[in-house]
Order: sequence, then C-alpha cells, then structure tokens
Amino acid sequence: MKRRKLILSGLFAVSLATTTIVGCSNQSASNSNDPNKKLLTLVTSPDYPPYEFYDTASGGRTIVGFDIDIANYIAKELGLELKVQESDFNGLIPAIQANRADFVMAGMTPTDERKKNVDFSTLYFQAQDTIVAPVGSNLKKPEDLAGKRVGVQLGSIQEGNAKKIAEKVKGIEIKPLNKIPEIVQEVKAKRIDGAIIENTIAEGFLKANPDLEFTLIPNEGPSGSAIAFPKGSPRVADFNKVLQKMKENGELDRLAKKWFSQSIPPSPAASPSASPSPSPSK
Ligand code: ARG
Repeated sequence: MKRRKLILSGLFAVSLATTTIVGCSNQSASNSNDPNKKLLTLVTSPDYPPYEFYDTASGGRTIVGFDIDIANYIAKELGLELKVQESDFNGLIPAIQANRADFVMAGMTPTDERKKNVDFSTLYFQAQDTIVAPVGSNLKKPEDLAGKRVGVQLGSIQEGNAKKIAEKVKGIEIKPLNKIPEIVQEVKAKRIDGAIIENTIAEGFLKANPDLEFTLIPNEGPSGSAIAFPKGSPRVADFNKVLQKMKENGELDRLAKKWFSQSIPPSPAASPSASPSPSPSK
C-alpha cells in the first residue's frame, strides 16, 4: 500500500489518528488556589477531534484535545487560570464580541472577514480542505460536486469555500449544519452526497467510518488555525510570544505528534498547494 507523506504549507504534516485517544489533558487549572491568578475563559466548539472534543473515552464530560493542551500550556506560562466553555462553532465570534470569551481556540482560521470582528494570533497549525463522501461515489474534485448536496459546518470557512466552488460548478446545493458529527452522519445516511471538511478532522472520522473516503482539494482561501481574541486585546502579543516559544522548544511539535498522525492514508489524489518536503519528524 502506498503511503504518501505530505507537508501542508509549512508547519507540520497534518492528519490524524484518533481511533484511540490517549494522554488527555486537564481542561482547567482551576484547582490552583492562588487568588491573584487571573481567570481566562476559553470558548470552543468541541465537535472537532482531535482539536477539541468531549473525552467520552474516560467517561467524562471533559473537553480535551490539541487546542486545549496548547491553551493550558500558554495559560501556565502566563500564570493564568483557564476555564473552558462550549458553543456551536457559529457562536464563537459572537461569544468574543459579547465578552463571554477571553479567547477562542477551535481550529479557527484567520480570515479577513473575521478580522473585522476579532484579532488573531499567529498560525499554530495547517490544514487542507477535503471532500468526504461514501466509498466509490467518486467525488474527488470540486467539479465532481456538480448537482450534489454538500454538507459544511455552519459559519466555517468550508461553508464559504463551498460557496466559492458553487460559483464555478453548477447545481451545488450547500447544506450548512451545526456540528461535524452531524455532517458525517448525513453523508453516511446519504441524505447529502458529500461534505467539505478539513483533512485533519476527516481522517479521524473516516477511521471510525470505513464506508467513507476523503480526497484533498485545493484550499479556496486562507487555511490553518490561530487563536481569536476580542479586538484590541492586549493578550495577543503575550500569546504570540508563548506560541513562538512552543514552536522553538518543540512543544508544539510534541503536541501535534500526540494528537495527529504524520501521514495521510492511501488515495489522496490532489496534491497540496505547498511544495512537498521531508517531514520534520518522521
Ligand atoms: N478551520 C475552519 C474554520 O475556521 C473550521 C473550524 C471548525 N472548528 C470547530 N471546532 N468545529 O472555519
């Protein structure tokens, strides 16, 4: 079987192995009793393994994942307490605007549109869009979506990207849904023909659903993940400093390895826009 290693625009090879999720982190540092510690509220949309999801494996109602580990590391570095709250993805930017969130980590991509309402950190991870569809349905390229019902997450860049594709490809019916697992279920039940989902997410869902397959497609716009803050937040610079430290000291790479696998399974037809280069870490 041919395995292709792909480096996606710079930071890391991204794809994931979530069949077994181990090494879960604590979502909150609220056990510290230092009264001088400032409590920060992180709001996230925990439908996005391995970035953030409910750790049902341990029977808990704890939100865990790559983003949560990064947030905990940053909070610790900055001497802050972390509280994690949930929202639908579509409600995250409104939560920041309504002062219900000090920051948002949700595999969120910085776009010009979002930058009108929130500020972003530097990018901490990369991802690429894919088409997820039933095995054998042959939906491999944007053009194949002509006349098809296509699921996307409401408010995500994938919703915007699907609209851009629909300007070029005839007859696409876009079905925005709130949560990624719902979208996957709709594809499985054939109530929609396919979905546009990031590769970093698609791979994990497909491991659990061998009746589905995914194919990388070119990104229609910005991609990758950054942390979102209220406009003008003085925390952006501090968070960026810690992110830079995590890039330099290997912590970000360590967490990426903990939560994501380093290779893409057989069959990606499209090649990523980034020029392939050797994986930094096998
Ligand atoms: N990266 C995409 C975006 O920013 C999707 C993120 C979805 N995240 C989530 N936690 N559901 O629009």
